[in-house]
Amino acid sequence: MSVWAILLAAGQGSRLAASGLATKKQFLPYEGAPLFWKSARTMVRVPRIAGFVFVFPEGEAEDGARTVKELAAQDDFSLPCLVATGGPRRQDSVHNGLAMLPKDCTHVLVHDSARPFASAPLIASLLAAMDGGHDAVIPAIPVADTIKRVAEDGTIAETLPRAELRACQTPQAFAVPLLQRAHAICREKSLAVTDDASMVEAIGERVATVPGEAGNIKITTPEDLRMLTTNAPVAYPCVGWGYDVHKYGPSRPLKIGGIPIDGDLQVVAHSDGDVLLHALADALLGCLGKGDIGQHFPDNDPAFDNIESAVLVTEVLDIAHREALTITHADLTIIAQTPKLSTYRRRIRDNVAQLLRVDPARVNVKATTEEGLGFTGKKHGIKAVACVTGMRQPQGAEN
Ligand code: CTP
Ligand code: MG
Repeated sequence: MSVWAILLAAGQGSRLAASGLATKKQFLPYEGAPLFWKSARTMVRVPRIAGFVFVFPEGEAEDGARTVKELAAQDDFSLPCLVATGGPRRQDSVHNGLAMLPKDCTHVLVHDSARPFASAPLIASLLAAMDGGHDAVIPAIPVADTIKRVAEDGTIAETLPRAELRACQTPQAFAVPLLQRAHAICREKSLAVTDDASMVEAIGERVATVPGEAGNIKITTPEDLRMLTTNAPVAYPCVGWGYDVHKYGPSRPLKIGGIPIDGDLQVVAHSDGDVLLHALADALLGCLGKGDIGQHFPDNDPAFDNIESAVLVTEVLDIAHREALTITHADLTIIAQTPKLSTYRRRIRDNVAQLLRVDPARVNVKATTEEGLGFTGKKHGIKAVACVTGMRQPQGAEN
């Protein structure tokens, strides 16, 4: 699955402009960047997102591309960020965004950048529903008001059954061929819609729902602007430490940080015995306050026999992203008398950075000996320690 996100920022903000706001809402400053960037910052934390298409108003795409480039550099974004020019209606902007998707992109999240508060767990739940076989999934919440249809003369034409009604939000997730087909057919039929799911419905295909979020509002009216200034929960720093040891002996060929090490050294292990990735996974769990890898992947469970440590780290990163952890830095030390690791350090660092989806400058790898002392000194085994720092969002009861 290759998932891209289209971030729509090509609207005119006419409802806010009518109340005197000169800047289009998607460009209002928020947390040190234009508002549209907030959604990108959230989405980049979702490990499976492979790239972004930002859609800007006609005549503003060049400036937009420059801004995106600067912001991406400032935030260490490692994902591709493309830019498209929007059209007169939202659906035209989506159409232009879709045209920019690379050929290998299989799934797309279409998101209104005017909804800056969509959370990473919401996006994860959309992707989980796609994994479950749905080709169109949208967030929906029950409505609190009684909703009625009003006739032209202002009198009530009909009261709709509230229990069946949902307010639908973005991001909306689609298999790319389905959304492209829906757009093509709706264009042909000149159908005007207010969201992408409507197009999929219009061509008779099913749209699934996941629970939306009350906080995922669309900045629309001057009252909504208060949401951009109220005290959002403040992220707080966290640190996690991990330590792991493996004994040398015939079992698994030595691998450190996912990189195979030349020579005949082997480690005794239930998994693939990657001492550094085990220490790293424990450090990540430390940041999250979630115990250790033994608890999550018991070594008496045959499911984890010879499991790739990179898979363990990815599973832990899934937890990290559900808990909205932003990794800021990892400092890793391998302690071994043998083998010599200096020639591997860079490759290990780059591989770990790729696993963590952070810039390599945020990962440091050191190697040292214990001067012939202890079990590493006697070449009986190898150990590694990892220290990870990050920022966590207050959750649940802490909010
Ligand atoms: N949008 C877009 N292209 C358009 C119209 C809207 O990309 N031609 C985007 C907006 O930038 C916004 C999202 O679609 O992120 C939802 O639209 P809406 O809230 O209606 O924003 P605006 O159209 O900008 O506001 P208004 O309707 O008040 O003019
Ligand atoms: Mg609009």
